[in-house]
Amino acid sequence: MNIAILASGRGSNFEAIVRAVKRKKLKGAKVKLLITDRKDAYVRIRAKKLGVKDIFVDPKKFKTREGFDREVVNILNREGIELVILAGFMRILTPYFVKKFKNRILNIHPALLPAFKGTDAIERAYNYGVKVTGVTIHFVDEKVDYGPIIMQKALEIKERESLEELEERIHRLEHKMYPEAISLFIKGKLKIRGRHVKII
Ligand code: GRF
Repeated sequence: MNIAILASGRGSNFEAIVRAVKRKKLKGAKVKLLITDRKDAYVRIRAKKLGVKDIFVDPKKFKTREGFDREVVNILNREGIELVILAGFMRILTPYFVKKFKNRILNIHPALLPAFKGTDAIERAYNYGVKVTGVTIHFVDEKVDYGPIIMQKALEIKERESLEELEERIHRLEHKMYPEAISLFIKGKLKIRGRHVKII
């Protein structure tokens, strides 16, 4: 299955997925390309190092968000992409994009949805003083951080744990969970029924 990863920043999830494929932990998966919307994103350096084709799509070249998404969808179609993985992609997909890849777009969120939707979720959860937080992987639909949930794992925040330590533990968990969820998708084990995702 041909996969494209869309990312805007650091790219640690991108790297975890590519390494899982290289270690044969993701049978049948091929990470064909990385698409970024930021020219100087660190994830591009990782892509070069790992030998993954990377394409920068410049948002400044498009008048509308849909214009940008149309360009991305064209690239995905041209490359024969069957599964789209969002990994720190800092843009909201338009309905046009979501329809074109219906039920074939996954996202990871560093909190237990529906809590702490949006950006800086780890920090906001930490500052809120929650005792439990975690990671969510879900299908992407038209609403932000909303689509049917595939997998969630919780972490208890330790007494006197710093924000940095928590971030580190969340990211480690993400790197383990994302390849697992992708593997379930590739094996055809995820069945969506309304908001519920059954693992068969
Ligand atoms: C991750 O925490 C992910 O959950 C969120 O953005 C962050 C991306 O990190 N959507 P990285 O770029 O993969 O290191």
